[in-house]
Amino acid sequence: MTDAVRAAELRRLLEDANYQYYVLDAPLLPDIEYDRLFRELLALESDHPELATPDSPTQRVGALPQKDFAPVTHAVAMLSLNNAFSEAEVVAFDRRVREGLACDDEAIEYAVEPKFDGLAVTLRYENGCFVRGATRGDGSIGEDVSANLRTIPAIPMRLPIESTRDGDGRVVPEVLEVRGEVLMLRKDFERLNANARAQGLKPFANPRNAAAGSLRQLDSRMTAKRRLSFFAYGIGQVEGATLPETHGGVMRLLASLRFPVAPQCTTTKGVAGLLAFFQNLGAQRDALPYDIDGAVYKVNQMANQTRLGFVSRAPRFAIAHKFPAQEELTTLEAIEVQVGRTGSLTPVARLAPVFVGGVTVTNATLHNEDEIRRKDVRVGDTVIVRRAGDVIPEVVGVLLERRPMRDLLEPLHPAFVMPTHCPECGAVVLRLEGETAARCSNGLACPAQRKGAIIHFASRRAMDIDGLGDKLVEQLVDQGLVMTPADLYALSVQQLAGLERMAEKSATNLVAAIEASRKRELARFVFALGIRHVGEQTAKDLARHFGGMDALMTADEEALLRVNEVGPVVAASLLAFFAEPHNRHVIERLRDVHAWVDGEAHPHQSGVLTGKTLVLTGTLPTLSRDEAKALIESAGGKAAGSVSKKTDFVVAGDEAGSKLTKAQELGVTILDEAAFLQLIEGVKQ
Ligand code: IVH
Repeated sequence: MTDAVRAAELRRLLEDANYQYYVLDAPLLPDIEYDRLFRELLALESDHPELATPDSPTQRVGALPQKDFAPVTHAVAMLSLNNAFSEAEVVAFDRRVREGLACDDEAIEYAVEPKFDGLAVTLRYENGCFVRGATRGDGSIGEDVSANLRTIPAIPMRLPIESTRDGDGRVVPEVLEVRGEVLMLRKDFERLNANARAQGLKPFANPRNAAAGSLRQLDSRMTAKRRLSFFAYGIGQVEGATLPETHGGVMRLLASLRFPVAPQCTTTKGVAGLLAFFQNLGAQRDALPYDIDGAVYKVNQMANQTRLGFVSRAPRFAIAHKFPAQEELTTLEAIEVQVGRTGSLTPVARLAPVFVGGVTVTNATLHNEDEIRRKDVRVGDTVIVRRAGDVIPEVVGVLLERRPMRDLLEPLHPAFVMPTHCPECGAVVLRLEGETAARCSNGLACPAQRKGAIIHFASRRAMDIDGLGDKLVEQLVDQGLVMTPADLYALSVQQLAGLERMAEKSATNLVAAIEASRKRELARFVFALGIRHVGEQTAKDLARHFGGMDALMTADEEALLRVNEVGPVVAASLLAFFAEPHNRHVIERLRDVHAWVDGEAHPHQSGVLTGKTLVLTGTLPTLSRDEAKALIESAGGKAAGSVSKKTDFVVAGDEAGSKLTKAQELGVTILDEAAFLQLIEGVKQ
């Protein structure tokens, strides 16, 4: 085989591997083999520079820095989309479409897609080869960012010859411009920001900014390190081919040419179809590996798109249906301090009401004193508030340019300082070495901590007392009806029915729910006690190891350290908790009401997984998360939440994310469900 033939073969093998890994998300070639082939190609190209082609995978590592980006005039303008923010606006869009096409009583067929929150680019292919890529710019003229785009592994540098015919047998164009969005996956964004913070650099505000900053690097070797992704959503100039008749057909053609097309892209009919898609996409939003900010609806028939045409800079045939914004601006009216269950003091921003993430927000967390200093947040400032999914709203930053000049020189509002005494009970506040949180030193004598402890005790994953919400606990504590979790079991219907917003019926239900929470298994009870550093998993480990409350309460440090994963910090916290007479007294009262039942001790449960730590990630084909966890535990192993050097196995299913990447980086053995079951089977025999 000649060197030229071998080089071509290596390029093909490496690009196939890239496609499988980055586009199909189904790697076939082991990393080590990829590296070997890559080095072989590098060696060939350095011995024979004439063999190095611009579409070679070796070019994806970046080229020498440029002085600036050359302007590119788009052959077909890159337009923007009009937005719809409500169902009514979507209904109006569909009506305009039906009127425009004079087909009033027929449901229109639409192609529906996610609206990617990245930045638009156009990729130009001539005779199947990537020749140039550009940003949108002002829609007519963009910037040539080819060198940077080459580093994005999901963007093909050469279109596959085998699939130059689409389903209908048409030949792929001599000129093909593919349009789509460059974005950064959330996991890559987290990694980038973690590195930035570690180096004392300013982190990016969101994945979109990170993607934009990375694509506009003059040194493409930097872009290569940033790990950008790409999704195609349309085409620009096309020459020398007839195209499919529908947008859906175009997307299928692009997928067959190996462009990444989001799996959510589909077609639907009429307004009802559009709104159902929007609902469905919204429900998936938080779980997607990248940010989206809405849905895009496009009339599916290309001929109808042409008939509808454009109005000023946006098409009449398409619209972006936006989700409510997750970030908004508002004014910081005050900073108050809240005391949590463990006594930690959290500064909370009181805000001028603002509609963000689909709800009106008036409070947001400021995390801790150091964060406030770092962001230099002051009362009166214009702040950015973020509320994503179920996450607690937070103040992510300040618009310093909106702070009045006078305030910039000599701020009207001084920098925030943490109070020296607990705002709830007046006890001294302590901040221990190395801890970010300041804490009230008063323990359960502090009403705020008492409320927090009871709310935690009743919570779903602890004693699971249905109907005992935060507001109710507040009333119970404020009125002196409940001082400790043990008091819950003495509450009567009469006492409860006297409370605000509590009718006889709900009081009866609550007493029944408290009744039903007796005799919980030991692990739940241990977790419910709310001992610092004792989460659900540690509580399970302790319950399994000691079997009963007495054994746990009398265990010394040495005995505690024998429990899988219990280290000196957890052991110290347990010893301190059980040394406290008040805590022992509450436990005794809970024993009297049979709040829990002891189990059996399994201090030396043995099996193939004894002493082994496993991490589950992604969706397994047949086992649920809980089933897999139970199997691991029954084989004597431990199911941990995050991957570290101590992890023995990672069991990975579909859509496994950062944990899988981390496992690969650390060289941890990765099992699929079948391999995992095989391992477990060994125990049963
Ligand atoms: S189609 C003529 N489809 O939204 C219409 N755009 O507001 C061209 N975008 O600049 C755009 N996801 O950056 C289209 N599935 C999608 C999209 C999408 C995100 C962005 C794109 C464009 C902007 C228009």
